[in-house]
Amino acid sequence: MMSDKKKEELRVRSIRNGSVIDHITAGNALNVLKILDITGVTTAIVSVAMNVPSERLSSGRKDIVKIEDRELIPEEVDKIALIAPQATINIIRDYEVAKKSLVELPRIISRIVRCPNLNCISNSNEPVYSKFRVMDSVALRCSYCEGIIDKDIAAYLI
Ligand code: CTP
Ligand code: ZN
Repeated sequence: MMSDKKKEELRVRSIRNGSVIDHITAGNALNVLKILDITGVTTAIVSVAMNVPSERLSSGRKDIVKIEDRELIPEEVDKIALIAPQATINIIRDYEVAKKSLVELPRIISRIVRCPNLNCISNSNEPVYSKFRVMDSVALRCSYCEGIIDKDIAAYLI
């Protein structure tokens, strides 16, 4: 009989080279893809698992994203921290985990989140990119208008 662990591993198979974003807060896999600019027209080989059992996450569920032949860069890892603070990024080379890192909240987040204040200069025609200071409780404060996003950050992803 195949062990439960083995069955679990078969759910999404191992990759040879690329990145595995593991322990994503359940429900956020598609937001991770959005942050990484992976859309329906991608040519990358991408596997997504949603709501798989997780002993580590308190909800008991996690999402996993595997992207073949692409190694995430630190800026991308930082952005993922905004919506999946417990995520683990694994860089896979020749089937081995070559590097494992925890995401870390950046202090400043630019461009990927839009300000909820429609009158903010970052929402005008001026050539100004959005910019937020990240506060402790994963709330964002706009550097221009002081507007705050303190829930559902994913809804403001550009
Ligand atoms: N993985 C993969 N392909 C590989 C190697 C690993 O898809 N060739 C995936 C595993 O399925 C897992 C993640 O990368 O989702 C991390 O692998 P590993 O460190 O071996 O697993 P764990 O020890 O369970 O990781 P952690 O301690 O972070 O929970
Ligand atoms: Zn603003």
